[in-house]
Amino acid sequence: MRIVVQNQKGGVGKTTTARNLASALLHQSLARSVVLADLDPQAHLTQMLPEIEPSSGADVADWLSGKVVHAAQVKGEPGLRLLRGGAQVAPSSIGPVMPVGADWVIVDTAPGWSDLTVTLCGWADLVLCPLEPDFLGLSGVARLCERFAEHGLALDKLRFLLCRHSARLNLHRDVQARLMERFGSTQLLPVTISNSVRISESAGFGRSIIAHAPEGACASEFLALARLLAGSPPPEPERSVA
Ligand SMILES: Nc1ncnc2c1ncn2[C@@H]1O[C@H](COP(=O)(O)OP(=O)(O)OP(=O)(O)O)[C@@H](O)[C@H]1O
Ligand SMILES: [Mg+2]
Repeated sequence: MRIVVQNQKGGVGKTTTARNLASALLHQSLARSVVLADLDPQAHLTQMLPEIEPSSGADVADWLSGKVVHAAQVKGEPGLRLLRGGAQVAPSSIGPVMPVGADWVIVDTAPGWSDLTVTLCGWADLVLCPLEPDFLGLSGVARLCERFAEHGLALDKLRFLLCRHSARLNLHRDVQARLMERFGSTQLLPVTISNSVRISESAGFGRSIIAHAPEGACASEFLALARLLAGSPPPEPERSVA
Protein backbone atom coordinates (compact mmCIF):
# COMPACT_ATOMS: atom_id res chain seq x y z
CA MET A 1 0.00 0.00 0.00
CA ARG A 2 1.34 3.41 -0.98
CA ILE A 3 -0.06 6.37 0.92
CA VAL A 4 0.84 10.01 0.35
CA VAL A 5 -0.23 12.41 3.09
CA GLN A 6 -0.92 15.73 1.41
CA ASN A 7 -2.51 19.07 2.12
CA GLN A 8 -1.21 22.33 0.70
CA LYS A 9 -2.16 24.03 3.94
CA GLY A 10 0.47 23.91 6.70
CA GLY A 11 0.03 22.71 10.27
CA VAL A 12 -3.04 20.53 9.67
CA GLY A 13 -1.62 17.27 11.05
CA LYS A 14 0.12 15.66 8.05
CA THR A 15 3.25 14.61 9.93
CA THR A 16 1.27 13.56 12.99
CA THR A 17 -0.97 11.40 10.80
CA ALA A 18 1.89 9.75 8.91
CA ARG A 19 3.81 8.92 12.10
CA ASN A 20 0.88 7.55 14.10
CA LEU A 21 -0.76 5.68 11.24
CA ALA A 22 2.52 3.78 10.73
CA SER A 23 2.69 2.76 14.40
CA ALA A 24 -1.02 1.88 14.46
CA LEU A 25 -0.58 -0.49 11.50
CA LEU A 26 2.37 -2.23 13.12
CA HIS A 27 0.77 -2.35 16.58
CA GLN A 28 -2.14 -4.35 15.19
CA SER A 29 -0.01 -6.50 12.87
CA LEU A 30 -1.79 -5.03 9.86
CA ALA A 31 1.61 -4.48 8.25
CA ARG A 32 4.98 -6.23 8.57
CA SER A 33 7.19 -3.36 7.47
CA VAL A 34 6.12 0.27 7.17
CA VAL A 35 8.48 2.76 5.57
CA LEU A 36 7.93 6.41 6.42
CA ALA A 37 9.34 8.80 3.81
CA ASP A 38 10.04 12.32 5.08
CA LEU A 39 9.57 14.60 2.07
CA ASP A 40 9.47 17.82 4.04
CA PRO A 41 12.76 19.82 3.96
CA GLN A 42 11.93 20.84 7.55
CA ALA A 43 12.41 17.11 8.39
CA HIS A 44 9.83 17.21 11.20
CA LEU A 45 9.01 13.54 10.82
CA THR A 46 12.68 12.56 11.10
CA GLN A 47 13.02 14.72 14.24
CA MET A 48 9.86 13.21 15.71
CA LEU A 49 11.22 9.66 15.63
CA PRO A 50 13.71 8.21 18.07
CA GLU A 51 17.20 7.43 16.83
CA ILE A 52 17.49 5.26 13.77
CA GLU A 53 19.85 2.37 13.23
CA PRO A 54 22.00 2.20 11.24
CA SER A 55 22.31 5.97 10.76
CA SER A 56 23.50 5.23 7.22
CA GLY A 57 20.01 4.29 5.92
CA ALA A 58 18.90 5.94 2.68
CA ASP A 59 17.40 9.42 2.54
CA VAL A 60 14.50 10.59 0.42
CA ALA A 61 16.80 12.01 -2.27
CA ASP A 62 18.26 8.53 -2.87
CA TRP A 63 14.79 7.06 -2.94
CA LEU A 64 13.38 9.60 -5.39
CA SER A 65 16.33 9.13 -7.74
CA GLY A 66 14.75 5.80 -8.66
CA LYS A 67 17.24 3.61 -6.75
CA VAL A 68 16.10 0.54 -4.86
CA VAL A 69 16.92 1.60 -1.30
CA HIS A 70 17.06 0.20 2.22
CA ALA A 71 15.32 2.44 4.75
CA ALA A 72 16.80 2.71 8.26
CA GLN A 73 15.21 0.81 11.16
CA VAL A 74 13.66 3.05 13.84
CA LYS A 75 14.89 2.09 17.32
CA GLY A 76 12.32 0.50 19.60
CA GLU A 77 9.63 -0.03 16.94
CA PRO A 78 10.22 -3.28 15.06
CA GLY A 79 9.07 -3.02 11.45
CA LEU A 80 9.14 0.79 11.38
CA ARG A 81 11.63 2.21 8.91
CA LEU A 82 12.50 5.72 7.81
CA LEU A 83 13.74 7.38 4.65
CA ARG A 84 15.34 10.41 6.25
CA GLY A 85 14.25 13.93 5.37
CA GLY A 86 16.19 17.15 5.03
CA ALA A 87 18.11 16.10 1.91
CA GLN A 88 17.99 18.24 -1.23
CA VAL A 89 15.82 16.43 -3.76
CA ALA A 90 17.08 16.96 -7.33
CA PRO A 91 14.51 18.50 -9.70
CA SER A 92 15.37 15.72 -12.16
CA SER A 93 14.18 13.05 -9.69
CA ILE A 94 12.48 10.29 -11.59
CA GLY A 95 10.17 9.11 -8.84
CA PRO A 96 9.90 6.43 -6.21
CA VAL A 97 9.97 2.65 -6.27
CA MET A 98 9.02 0.47 -3.27
CA PRO A 99 11.93 0.36 -0.77
CA VAL A 100 13.35 -3.10 -0.01
CA GLY A 101 11.05 -5.19 2.21
CA ALA A 102 8.29 -2.57 2.59
CA ASP A 103 4.67 -3.62 2.43
CA TRP A 104 3.45 -0.11 3.29
CA VAL A 105 5.03 3.24 2.37
CA ILE A 106 3.64 6.39 3.96
CA VAL A 107 4.96 9.65 2.55
CA ASP A 108 4.80 12.83 4.62
CA THR A 109 4.86 15.83 2.29
CA ALA A 110 5.69 19.49 2.88
CA PRO A 111 2.89 22.04 2.70
CA GLY A 112 2.41 23.44 -0.81
CA TRP A 113 2.28 21.84 -4.24
CA SER A 114 5.09 21.04 -6.70
CA ASP A 115 5.89 18.78 -9.66
CA LEU A 116 7.06 16.22 -7.12
CA THR A 117 3.63 16.30 -5.46
CA VAL A 118 2.07 15.46 -8.81
CA THR A 119 4.47 12.52 -9.30
CA LEU A 120 3.82 11.22 -5.80
CA CYS A 121 0.05 11.58 -5.99
CA GLY A 122 0.14 9.70 -9.30
CA TRP A 123 2.22 6.92 -7.70
CA ALA A 124 0.08 6.60 -4.56
CA ASP A 125 -2.74 4.12 -4.04
CA LEU A 126 -4.37 6.64 -1.69
CA VAL A 127 -3.80 10.33 -1.01
CA LEU A 128 -4.72 11.02 2.59
CA CYS A 129 -5.62 14.64 3.27
CA PRO A 130 -5.80 15.61 6.95
CA LEU A 131 -7.67 18.84 7.58
CA GLU A 132 -9.11 20.90 10.36
CA PRO A 133 -12.91 21.15 10.16
CA ASP A 134 -13.22 24.87 9.52
CA PHE A 135 -13.62 27.32 6.65
CA LEU A 136 -9.92 27.28 5.67
CA GLY A 137 -9.99 23.49 5.80
CA LEU A 138 -12.84 23.45 3.29
CA SER A 139 -11.08 25.88 1.00
CA GLY A 140 -7.95 23.68 1.14
CA VAL A 141 -10.05 20.68 0.04
CA ALA A 142 -11.43 22.67 -2.90
CA ARG A 143 -7.90 23.68 -3.94
CA LEU A 144 -6.64 20.11 -3.71
CA CYS A 145 -9.51 18.87 -5.90
CA GLU A 146 -8.74 21.61 -8.44
CA ARG A 147 -5.07 20.55 -8.55
CA PHE A 148 -6.06 16.91 -9.03
CA ALA A 149 -8.35 17.84 -11.93
CA GLU A 150 -5.71 20.15 -13.46
CA HIS A 151 -3.08 17.37 -13.48
CA GLY A 152 -5.40 14.52 -14.50
CA LEU A 153 -4.99 12.74 -11.15
CA ALA A 154 -7.69 10.30 -10.06
CA LEU A 155 -9.99 12.12 -7.62
CA ASP A 156 -11.23 8.82 -6.20
CA LYS A 157 -7.83 8.26 -4.55
CA LEU A 158 -8.50 11.12 -2.17
CA ARG A 159 -9.39 10.36 1.46
CA PHE A 160 -10.18 13.17 3.90
CA LEU A 161 -9.38 12.87 7.60
CA LEU A 162 -10.80 15.40 10.05
CA CYS A 163 -8.14 16.26 12.66
CA ARG A 164 -8.40 18.23 15.89
CA HIS A 165 -12.06 17.37 15.67
CA SER A 166 -14.68 17.98 18.35
CA ALA A 167 -18.17 16.56 17.77
CA ARG A 168 -19.49 19.12 20.29
CA LEU A 169 -18.67 22.08 18.05
CA ASN A 170 -21.37 23.21 15.61
CA LEU A 171 -18.71 24.42 13.20
CA HIS A 172 -17.06 21.00 13.08
CA ARG A 173 -20.38 19.20 12.62
CA ASP A 174 -21.33 21.62 9.87
CA VAL A 175 -18.06 21.18 7.96
CA GLN A 176 -18.30 17.39 8.40
CA ALA A 177 -21.85 17.40 6.98
CA ARG A 178 -20.81 19.48 3.97
CA LEU A 179 -17.89 17.18 3.19
CA MET A 180 -20.09 14.11 3.63
CA GLU A 181 -22.62 15.50 1.17
CA ARG A 182 -19.91 16.18 -1.40
CA PHE A 183 -17.67 13.09 -0.96
CA GLY A 184 -19.68 10.40 0.85
CA SER A 185 -18.44 8.05 3.56
CA THR A 186 -15.77 6.33 1.48
CA GLN A 187 -13.78 9.48 0.83
CA LEU A 188 -14.64 11.38 4.02
CA LEU A 189 -13.26 8.85 6.45
CA PRO A 190 -15.67 7.83 9.23
CA VAL A 191 -12.79 8.02 11.72
CA THR A 192 -11.83 11.46 13.07
CA ILE A 193 -8.86 12.51 15.23
CA SER A 194 -9.65 14.48 18.38
CA ASN A 195 -7.84 17.55 19.58
CA SER A 196 -5.48 16.48 22.36
CA VAL A 197 -2.36 17.89 23.94
CA ARG A 198 -1.20 14.26 24.23
CA ILE A 199 -0.41 14.40 20.49
CA SER A 200 2.11 17.23 20.88
CA GLU A 201 3.53 15.62 24.03
CA SER A 202 4.08 12.29 22.28
CA ALA A 203 5.99 13.97 19.44
CA GLY A 204 8.29 15.62 21.99
CA PHE A 205 9.06 12.25 23.60
CA GLY A 206 9.73 10.57 20.24
CA ARG A 207 6.84 8.19 20.82
CA SER A 208 3.70 7.32 18.92
CA ILE A 209 0.42 8.32 20.54
CA ILE A 210 -0.26 4.61 20.99
CA ALA A 211 2.85 4.19 23.14
CA HIS A 212 2.45 7.54 24.90
CA ALA A 213 -1.25 7.53 25.84
CA PRO A 214 -2.63 4.08 25.02
CA GLU A 215 -5.91 4.61 26.86
CA GLY A 216 -6.65 7.99 25.27
CA ALA A 217 -9.08 8.81 22.49
CA CYS A 218 -6.40 9.65 19.91
CA ALA A 219 -4.71 6.25 20.27
CA SER A 220 -8.05 4.48 19.64
CA GLU A 221 -8.71 6.78 16.70
CA PHE A 222 -5.37 6.12 15.01
CA LEU A 223 -5.80 2.37 15.57
CA ALA A 224 -9.25 2.62 13.96
CA LEU A 225 -7.82 4.64 11.06
CA ALA A 226 -5.24 1.92 10.44
CA ARG A 227 -7.92 -0.79 10.44
CA LEU A 228 -10.03 1.24 8.06
CA LEU A 229 -7.22 1.83 5.58
CA ALA A 230 -6.06 -1.77 5.82
CA GLY A 231 -9.60 -2.93 5.07
CA SER A 232 -10.11 -4.68 8.40
CA PRO A 233 -13.48 -4.97 10.13
CA PRO A 234 -14.73 -1.81 11.85
CA PRO A 235 -13.46 -1.14 15.40
CA GLU A 236 -15.27 -2.36 18.48
CA PRO A 237 -16.26 0.76 20.47
CA GLU A 238 -15.00 -0.33 23.91
CA ARG A 239 -11.93 -2.24 22.79
CA SER A 240 -8.87 -1.75 25.01
CA VAL A 241 -5.78 -0.39 23.23
CA ALA A 242 -3.28 -1.22 25.99
N1 LIG B 1 -5.06 15.97 16.96
C1 LIG B 1 -4.23 16.90 17.44
N2 LIG B 1 -4.44 17.47 18.65
C2 LIG B 1 -3.59 18.41 19.15
N3 LIG B 1 -2.52 18.85 18.50
C3 LIG B 1 -2.25 18.34 17.28
C4 LIG B 1 -3.07 17.34 16.68
N4 LIG B 1 -2.56 17.02 15.47
C5 LIG B 1 -1.46 17.77 15.32
N5 LIG B 1 -1.26 18.56 16.39
C6 LIG B 1 -0.17 19.52 16.61
O1 LIG B 1 -0.29 20.53 15.61
C7 LIG B 1 0.99 20.90 15.14
C8 LIG B 1 1.07 20.66 13.62
O2 LIG B 1 0.94 19.28 13.39
P1 LIG B 1 1.77 18.59 12.22
O3 LIG B 1 3.22 18.95 12.32
O4 LIG B 1 1.43 17.16 12.22
O5 LIG B 1 1.14 19.33 10.96
P2 LIG B 1 1.68 19.35 9.46
O6 LIG B 1 0.50 19.45 8.57
O7 LIG B 1 2.61 18.23 9.23
O8 LIG B 1 2.50 20.73 9.45
P3 LIG B 1 3.45 21.24 8.23
O9 LIG B 1 2.51 21.69 7.16
O10 LIG B 1 4.25 22.37 8.86
O11 LIG B 1 4.29 20.09 7.81
C9 LIG B 1 2.01 20.07 15.91
O12 LIG B 1 2.47 20.83 17.01
C10 LIG B 1 1.19 18.89 16.41
O13 LIG B 1 1.72 18.32 17.61
MG1 LIG C 1 4.58 18.26 8.54
